[in-house]
Amino acid sequence: MKNLKDKVVVITGAASGIGLAAAEAFLNEGSKVVIADIDEENGYKAVKDLNQENVYFIRTDVTEETDCLNLIQETIEKYGQIDVFLNNAGIEITTPIHEMSIEEWNKLISVNLTGVFLCSKHVLKQMIKNKKGNIINTCSVGGLVAWPGIPAYNASKGGVLQLTKSLAIEYAKYNIRVNCVCPGVIDTPLNEKSFLQNNVGTLEEIKKQKSKLNPIGRLGTVKDIANAMVFLASDESSFMTGSTLTVDGGYTAI
Ligand SMILES: NC(=O)c1ccc[n+]([C@@H]2O[C@H](COP(=O)([O-])OP(=O)(O)OC[C@H]3O[C@@H](n4cnc5c(N)ncnc54)[C@H](O)[C@@H]3O)[C@@H](O)[C@H]2O)c1
Repeated sequence: MKNLKDKVVVITGAASGIGLAAAEAFLNEGSKVVIADIDEENGYKAVKDLNQENVYFIRTDVTEETDCLNLIQETIEKYGQIDVFLNNAGIEITTPIHEMSIEEWNKLISVNLTGVFLCSKHVLKQMIKNKKGNIINTCSVGGLVAWPGIPAYNASKGGVLQLTKSLAIEYAKYNIRVNCVCPGVIDTPLNEKSFLQNNVGTLEEIKKQKSKLNPIGRLGTVKDIANAMVFLASDESSFMTGSTLTVDGGYTAI
């Protein structure tokens, strides 16, 4: 029993890629979904494409505390509660550390790590009041091992991993579970951009090379990650908190 019907699920960075696939997966479970994203055009497009009455878009920049607070308040006004919160918004910057400006560093950390802090801070207040809740953070195998070419990203995701564990132990007494998913190399717009920036060849050739890094022999799909998120949100994972669910085709097992 997944028990996700009528649950209210908020997903940041859900106008694209993994977050969008998660929105679709939760809708298929009968949940009510809020897509929170800085990208208004794709956010409203996602709502239209998903073509369901149980999905709603709230324009949110996770680096702005007022936006995070508004996201929580507007969701409560619309749906009355928040059962599951997915901190999924993320960006990648490929600049090497010795050439990186403080502005680039701050931008990446503010989306990937501070955004998780700000949204968690405000949703936790609601969850503590309700004495239940479920937070899922999108981490990365870049938080477990160093992925080449993205040092600041690796640092941000290492932070997300530790924040997940800290929140899990601090808030378990309120019946709040906090876990993270660590995707490996997934076929998304975010990755296509970085593949083309960091490799030689056509996109198809690069994807073939990347697939070989995974013992399972293919890139991950957004659905692979969405399925893991649904599992962590469901009662089927009720004894899991502070966990790192690695979904990487065996990449980090080598
Ligand atoms: N694609 C991969 O291979 C991969 C692997 C490991 C982890 N991840 C993580 O998965 C998450 C989703 O990535 P994706 O691959 O689906 O990327 P994506 O670029 O397709 O989606 C990211 C979304 O985040 C939104 N976003 C960016 N800045 C934002 C902000 N300040 N406030 C709110 N929304 C913002 C973007 O508009 C976009 O819709 C990220 O946290 C990423 O680090 C991805």
